[in-house]
Amino acid sequence: MSAGAAPRTGAGPETLVGLSGAAIGRRMARAEKRLAEVARNAGDPIAEPALSTIAAGGKRLRPLLVFVAGGDLGGQAADDEPLVRAAVAVELVHSATLVHDDVLDGAALRRGRPTVVAASGRAMATAVGDLLFSRAFAELARNGSAAQLNALSRSSTALAHGELVQREDAYDTTVTRERYMWRCELKTGRLFEGACRLGALAGGLGPVEPGLADFGRRIGLAFQLLDDILDVSGPASRTGKHRGTDLLDGTVTLPFIVARERDPDLAGIDLRRIRGPQEAEHLCDRIAATGALDLAKAHALELVAGARDALPSGLDGEQRRLLELMAEGVVERYQ
Ligand code: IPE
Ligand code: IPE
Ligand code: MG
Ligand code: MG
Repeated sequence: MSAGAAPRTGAGPETLVGLSGAAIGRRMARAEKRLAEVARNAGDPIAEPALSTIAAGGKRLRPLLVFVAGGDLGGQAADDEPLVRAAVAVELVHSATLVHDDVLDGAALRRGRPTVVAASGRAMATAVGDLLFSRAFAELARNGSAAQLNALSRSSTALAHGELVQREDAYDTTVTRERYMWRCELKTGRLFEGACRLGALAGGLGPVEPGLADFGRRIGLAFQLLDDILDVSGPASRTGKHRGTDLLDGTVTLPFIVARERDPDLAGIDLRRIRGPQEAEHLCDRIAATGALDLAKAHALELVAGARDALPSGLDGEQRRLLELMAEGVVERYQ
């Protein structure tokens, strides 16, 4: 696919902003400006790849979740600067982990552009990720509480743990569904959970924080399942990433686990022997032919239903509606 911003699919900011017509658009515009400033302020030689990562776009789902969890969507909040800072911090952690994830996964394409590791090497990718990580906590420290800093730190720790579990399990085709789900929770569910916690705390909605956090964890899990489905189904023009990246780096995901159970020929495959992207794409087609993607999608839908049930009763109508829309959005980006 051609270089450029990755497509924004599912419940992206523009969908929700169009529907709420209130505070979210203004908050997101301020967050975007701040994200670019943080990257630019990194100085040479890190600023350029950091800014390229940020400017390539991305769906901005986690900052959006901070804003919606923060409430007051009529835009009446006297000061929503803490919410903007919290959203920027969460997106910086997310972007940092993507830059590092691409080193670990040996990925070539991210957000429709060459990854930092592919364009500038491992040392630069390590430094860019470290910079984005450290600025995330500095951002939150400006007006965030200790509870918010702790929540972001817990999410980041879980994420690092999840990435290590993924490396530990690489090429192991005996990985169980339970272990796969646990890995997804660590590497993705916990940052969605953290986004909801930070939003609730920055928006002064402490009493509903646990319910919102549970909601976030569940939609984060569903989101990772969809990401793993899209790794098999693509297309790259829609995802901004090559098909079959997971297979090539030995990452065993739910579609492959299910396909192995259904097709004895697939059960015999050794992922270390896949010779290149073309063979990986062919294997993707074989996985899809077993119907494994439909089963994984059904599982993601169940998770979303559970997330909706987890929403606390004290939310106002508009906030609940937008959270439900986001929950649907994470599973709608599948075709
Ligand atoms: C990618 O997340 C990493 C996963 C947790 C699957 P996103 O798909 O939200 O990435 P961007 O921010 O939109 O690029
Ligand atoms: C999610 O896992 C990565 C992080 C949580 C950092 P993946 O490895 O599946 O994400 P993509 O597919 O590279 O975006
Ligand atoms: Mg990856
Ligand atoms: Mg993936």
